[in-house]
Amino acid sequence: MSVQSTASQTDYFIDLENQYNAHNYHPLPVVLREGKGVFVWDVEGKKYYDFLSAYSAVNQGHCHPKIIGALTEQAQKLTLTSRAFFSEQLSLFSKFITGYFGYDKVLPMNTGAEAVETALKLCRHWAYRVKRVEENKAKIIVCRGNFHGRTISIISFSTDATAKKDFGPFNPGFETIPYNDLPALAEALKDKNVAGFLVEPIQGEAGVNVPDDGYLSKAKQYCADANVLFIADEIQTGLSRTGKLLCCDHENVRPDILILGKALSGGTMPVSAVLADDEIMLTIKPGEHGSTYGGNPLASRIAVAALEVLKEEKLAENAEALGNLFREELEKLNSPHIEKIRGKGLLNAIIIKDKSENAGWKLCVELKNNGLLAKPTHGDKIRFAPPLVITKDQILECIGIIEKSLKVLD
Ligand SMILES: Cc1ncc(COP(=O)(O)O)c(C=O)c1O
Repeated sequence: MSVQSTASQTDYFIDLENQYNAHNYHPLPVVLREGKGVFVWDVEGKKYYDFLSAYSAVNQGHCHPKIIGALTEQAQKLTLTSRAFFSEQLSLFSKFITGYFGYDKVLPMNTGAEAVETALKLCRHWAYRVKRVEENKAKIIVCRGNFHGRTISIISFSTDATAKKDFGPFNPGFETIPYNDLPALAEALKDKNVAGFLVEPIQGEAGVNVPDDGYLSKAKQYCADANVLFIADEIQTGLSRTGKLLCCDHENVRPDILILGKALSGGTMPVSAVLADDEIMLTIKPGEHGSTYGGNPLASRIAVAALEVLKEEKLAENAEALGNLFREELEKLNSPHIEKIRGKGLLNAIIIKDKSENAGWKLCVELKNNGLLAKPTHGDKIRFAPPLVITKDQILECIGIIEKSLKVLD
C-alpha cells in the first residue's frame, strides 16, 4: 500500500493506527519497520536499541537467523494440522522440550494467557481427580500485583483496577495474598481446598518486583508440605532472561507446573507451553482442553530452534554477566533522578524520583530521541530488558544514552 501523505511517515502511520486500531495500548510515538539483533529501525530509517524486547519475547534478538531459518523452511512444508492428527514436528518438539526442562509431559498453546488458563485448569483437574478436593471448592492462591494476562478468569484475580474496571462479573476460586510474604502464604495454605499457588518468580509488569532471596524455595516447600501445586509463571522471567534458564533455577526450585511463552518462539509467533509430570498432566483427557493452533508444526519447529539458540549462544550466562554490569554502571551514574535500581540478569527497572504523572513518559520519549526504546510500567518505573544477545560495549553505550536522557528530568 502506498503512503499518501505529506506529513512525515511516522505521523502518517500513527494516524492510520489511531484511526483504525482499537485504543487498547498507548504506544510511544515511534513506528517500527525492521529489526536485527538488539536493534530496531523506524520508518524514517532511525536506529534504536530495543530495551523492551517485546516484553521479553525477543530474548534471542530480532530475526535471529537460525529461528527465521527454521520458520521459513517449515513454513514451506507444513504449518497446521490441528491436533486431529499426529504431527512429525509436534512429536519432535514434545520430546525435545520435556528433556530440556526435565518434565514428563508438555501441553502446547499459543499465547501466554492461554498457557496460564491451561495451568489453572490443570491445577483444578488435579485437585478434584488426585487430591480429592470437594467438587467446585478448589482454590488457587495468587499474589497482589500479579500480571498473568488478559482473559476474564485471569483478570478476575488481578489487583490492577484498570485491568478490571467494567469487565465484571468475575470468576471465583482465587485468593489473593501479598507478594513476597511467606507468613501470608502459610496462613492461606491452611485451607484444605487450596489446590495451587500461582506466582511470578519476579513480578515483571508490576515494575520488576524482585522477591527476597529464599522466597521461592520456601514457598515451594510450604506448598509441598500442604500438598498444593507450585505453579510458576515464567512467561516473562524464563528462557534465560534473569541469568538462568528459569528464574526459579536461582533457588533450585522445580515448579510442579511450569508456564512458558514469549521467547519460546524468539519473537516470531505466539508459542506457549505448560510443562508438568504425568500425575498432573494425565488428569486431562481427550476433549477436555485444546486449541486449534496449539502445537502446530510451524510453532513446534520454531520453538526447538529458539530453545537451542538459548544454550548455543549461552544467553543465560550473558544475561547474568551483563545484567550485573548494567546495574553497576547505573549505580555509578549516581543520578539524582533515580530512586531505586532493581532486577536480575537483564530484567531490570529504575524507579524515578519524580512522581508527577508524566515523568516516566517524558523520560522514555527522551530515551527514544536518543536512540533507545523503553516503556514506563506504572508511571515511575522504567523497565530495561534488551535482547540477551547484547554485548558489553553496547551495554556501556546504552548507559551513556540513559545518563544523557535522565537530564530531561532536571
Ligand atoms: C508473567 C506474564 N504472564 C502472562 C502474560 C500474558 O502473555 P500474553 O500477552 O502472551 O497473553 C505476560 C505478558 O506480559 C506476562 O508477563
